[in-house]
Amino acid sequence: MNKFSRTVSSPATRRTVDEITGGRRLRRTRKADWSRRLVRENHLTVDDLIWPLFLMEGENRQEPLDAMPGVMRHTVDQAVRQAERAARLGIPAIATFPNIDPARRDETGSHSLDPDNLINRASRAIKEAVPEIGIITDVALDPFTSHGHDGILRDGEIVNDETVAQIAVAAVGQAAAGADIIAPSDMMDGRIGAIRDALDQNGFQNVAIMSYATKFASAFYGPYREAIGTGGLLKGDKKSYYIDPANTDEALREAEQDLLEGADMLMVKPGLPYLDIVHRLKDTFAVPTFAYQVSGEYAMIRAAAANGWIDGERAMIESLLAFKRAGCDGILTYFAPEMAELL
Ligand code: PBG
Repeated sequence: MNKFSRTVSSPATRRTVDEITGGRRLRRTRKADWSRRLVRENHLTVDDLIWPLFLMEGENRQEPLDAMPGVMRHTVDQAVRQAERAARLGIPAIATFPNIDPARRDETGSHSLDPDNLINRASRAIKEAVPEIGIITDVALDPFTSHGHDGILRDGEIVNDETVAQIAVAAVGQAAAGADIIAPSDMMDGRIGAIRDALDQNGFQNVAIMSYATKFASAFYGPYREAIGTGGLLKGDKKSYYIDPANTDEALREAEQDLLEGADMLMVKPGLPYLDIVHRLKDTFAVPTFAYQVSGEYAMIRAAAANGWIDGERAMIESLLAFKRAGCDGILTYFAPEMAELL
């Protein structure tokens, strides 16, 4: 007999479960589906979904993305079809991300200022065909720069103030093309105030700003970079402007600053690994708070499901519900059309 094989007495032989719990049995409300529905605290609805759409040049074409099964890049005419589909499903808003022709990318991302660039052409076409859907556009420079960074690169540094000046102008161009919400994802200091000023000065007082207030330097953006064609371009990393994944107080200060500068809504990105941030922001500021279930999160669920390792549909629903539980008002997710169809 060794020390692991001695017999232990069951606690239940000393006290009954009712003595232990005082008769408080939490399983009572879980016993049947009707009862679980009755006590359910959080619900996912189609109103919670924002669908990110990838754009590309050309006509009447769509390209599948290897690392994001079920997600495509769309030419503008096809993006209009997708926006129509989203509206039919009741999805309130889409968010567009362009894959810019490499020949148009340069050191400063100057093509971001072109009123006729891919993102602006798409906004105009979607606004005209589907006026009832909200259009959210990102003003970060990464789709437009030859180095894949979100800002202007000079002597090895992402220069803050010059970048802010440029994205403020790009934001006005996007608003003029029909964007309803400008969503800057670049994490430069002062960008929210500068964009607000520029929008107001140009008569776009009613265009809102959804700040990617707490965007972390994450490994989960990989498939997105493939989708917009920056994966191979990016030199170095984005740690000098995105938040360190180790920090939460810093995320709070970023969000506070963006609200003071005029942000209407906050976003946390990535999503699932950062639900503590969502919860803290919602608790602290009580403003509309969103999270972005990013490409890598989507890819992980899809890949595991494709291998038969998890039930993909249930994992999708559970992950989206988790955002609601944490305090999100809405979720940017590549699952949006599939989830909307289920709802
Ligand atoms: C960049 C940007 C990123 C995403 C949206 N805008 C990440 C990045 O490459 O830095 C990520 C979205 C996703 O992964 O789904 N401004």
